[in-house]
Amino acid sequence: MDLGFKGKVALVTGAGSQIGFGKAIALLLAKEGCSAVAVNDINLDDAKLTAEDVKALGCKSVALKADVTNKDEVQEMVKKVIGEYGKIDILFNVAGAILGGGPLEEQKEDLWNREIGLNLYGTMLVSQAVLPYMKKQNYGVIVNIGSGSTHMYSHGVSTYAMSKGAIDIFTKQLAIVEAGTGIRVNCVAPGPSPTNFIKAPDKQAVIDMLAKQIPMGRGATPADIANAAAFFASDISGYVTGQVLHVSGGSVL
Ligand SMILES: NC(=O)c1ccc[n+]([C@@H]2O[C@H](COP(=O)([O-])OP(=O)(O)OC[C@H]3O[C@@H](n4cnc5c(N)ncnc54)[C@H](O)[C@@H]3O)[C@@H](O)[C@H]2O)c1
Repeated sequence: MDLGFKGKVALVTGAGSQIGFGKAIALLLAKEGCSAVAVNDINLDDAKLTAEDVKALGCKSVALKADVTNKDEVQEMVKKVIGEYGKIDILFNVAGAILGGGPLEEQKEDLWNREIGLNLYGTMLVSQAVLPYMKKQNYGVIVNIGSGSTHMYSHGVSTYAMSKGAIDIFTKQLAIVEAGTGIRVNCVAPGPSPTNFIKAPDKQAVIDMLAKQIPMGRGATPADIANAAAFFASDISGYVTGQVLHVSGGSVL
């Protein structure tokens, strides 16, 4: 099946984690024929490692340091991709993290600001920066990363779950606004996966514990998430926009 990636240029945020979803997405896009995959992270050394692995697959790549919560850095990053490759066809908003939770009366506003700033505003800022270029070419695909935590208990009053719920709504709102412009917007909502997102030293032990509540009995692999993200990014989902796909082993129905 032709996914339509030949000649396409993608930008993946949060792709520095060597065991994370962003890198899995970048490598899959490279394998499936994208001509260039630009990889962003707040940590440049990590992004460079991913870019090298993308290049080893015969795809062009550049590592770009930017904090997705910083508008100036985001605008600069997007200009660099345009300068390097002339366009951005596909954006994956992957950068994100869980920062806290617990009883509401113990939470600090600083946590709310940082968590919503990273997960929601980070996604909005990068989308905002690429949209003018996508509009000019009457083509573009944005794939956001949500979370299964929007539909289940998530360690207290979790701003993380709320920030990801807002990403679901942002996805739908932007999809409708852009539906006539050739730009599609969708969201992959992963179940738990043993990436650096899990802060415990034994990540797999955390996932195995959580997997007892997952109907399919296991956590998500980065490949599970990359496959779903690639579907949304590909031309075979050309009539699909404004959707949130839970990739979580049956946890969310
Ligand atoms: N792993 C899970 O269990 C899980 C489940 C549901 C959703 N998610 C979501 O998946 C996405 C990817 O997470 P992951 O599991 O690959 O985690 P990860 O920690 O392995 O990777 C996240 C990457 O984002 C980068 N990053 C963090 N803040 C940034 C910023 N301000 N600017 C640019 N880059 C930044 C980090 O340096 C890291 O490389 C996140 O949005 C996360 O919320 C993860």
